[in-house]
Formats: sequence, structure tokens, C-alpha cells
Amino acid sequence: MGLKILGVASSMRESSYSTRVLKLVLEKAEKRGAETKLLDLRVLQLPMYHPEQNDSPELDKVTEYVKWADAFVLASPDYHGSMSGVMKNFLDFFWSDFAGKVFGYICASHEKGLTAMDQMRTAVRQCYGWSMPYGISVNSDQDFDSQGNIISENLLFRTETLARDLVAYGSLITDQYKKDLQSKEPNTFAARYR
Ligand SMILES: Cc1cc2nc3c(=O)[nH]c(=O)nc-3n(C[C@H](O)[C@H](O)[C@H](O)COP(=O)(O)O)c2cc1C
Repeated sequence: MGLKILGVASSMRESSYSTRVLKLVLEKAEKRGAETKLLDLRVLQLPMYHPEQNDSPELDKVTEYVKWADAFVLASPDYHGSMSGVMKNFLDFFWSDFAGKVFGYICASHEKGLTAMDQMRTAVRQCYGWSMPYGISVNSDQDFDSQGNIISENLLFRTETLARDLVAYGSLITDQYKKDLQSKEPNTFAARYR
């Protein structure tokens, strides 16, 4: 069975750059043996997080996706140096499902999106998830032509690299985490999730 990767798209724009690059990473990860699913939060819209109002068909469906995944690729536009509100809302709902999972990051920005990706990484670290040590920055002015095709060799290279590394490192970490959940070893962070 391949690594199960869930791509989470969090732009409300139909022709979102971050979502397009996310789809490409998922395609490339499939070619490397992963199973992938796309959760586009523009299409499957979550309610605003509320701890006592949590019964909606959309939430049930998104929960199914999250429970299925071993690894995630979070894709967000850069909004004021941070992630989109849609992505933050998703993280608020599912923080307790991220321990031991592996995360990659994509951000569409005119300024590299480093702070936005760092904030997603901080949230994931707070939830005991593992993060890839780099992310993919997408710049609509430089990376796409007027028809919306990717023209940046560097961006294509980075999508291939993220897909490769997610499958390689993600599989190793996932296998070890699953073993640690099953074992009786007390000296691992996985022990508290048994
Ligand atoms: C509310 C809002 C805030 C934004 N803030 C920034 C910003 O701080 N820095 C930046 O480079 N771009 C900013 N942008 C531009 C978007 O990040 C940019 O258009 C991005 O490509 C959108 O990604 P998408 O195509 O995936 O929706 C902002 C856009 C909006 C709507």
C-alpha cells in the first residue's frame, strides 16, 4: 500500500495558483507510488470552527478525508504574510489528528510566502506533526504564462522534489510511527497516542 497523501487546497479562487501547483504535486506523488486525494476547501466548505456545533455533512466528509491520510500537503495563498482563514479554520478543526503525520507546504505569494508557510509549520509542530524542511513558493507573475501554464523550470523541479521527498521520507516516518503506536516502547512521543 502506498503512502496516503491528502492535498488540502485553501484558496477560494477558482483558478487558484496554489491549488494548481498542489494538484501537480499530487499527480507526481502518485507516479511515485503514493495514493492521493484532493480536499478543496473552496468546494467542500467547512463551517466556522465551533466546539459545540460540529454536526454538518461537510464536516463529516472532511473528517473522512483527514482520518484516511498519513501525510498532508497544505496549500495556501499568502494573506497578509499568513495562511488563508480557510486553512486556519481547517487546522482548528483537525489539530488532534496531526500527531505523527508528515506535512508539506505550498504558498502562492508575491513575496515568497515564507512567513505564511512558517505559520502553517508552527501550527503543525504544535500538534506534533512532522514538517518537510522546505516548501514550494509560487509566484503568479513569474511562474505562469498568460494562459495559466507553468513556465518556471525551478517551480517544476520543486514540485518533483516535494513529491519525491514526501513519498520517501513520509513513508519512513509513517512506518516508524505506526510501529511505535503498536509497540510498548515508553520513550517515544508516539506512546501518548496509543
Ligand atoms: C486578503 C489578501 C491578502 C493578501 N496579502 C498578501 C500578502 O501579504 N503578500 C503577498 O505577496 N500577496 C498577498 N495577497 C495576494 C495573494 O497572495 C496572491 O494573489 C496569491 O497568488 C493568491 O493565491 P491563489 O491564486 O492560490 O488564490 C493577498 C491577497 C488577498 C486577497
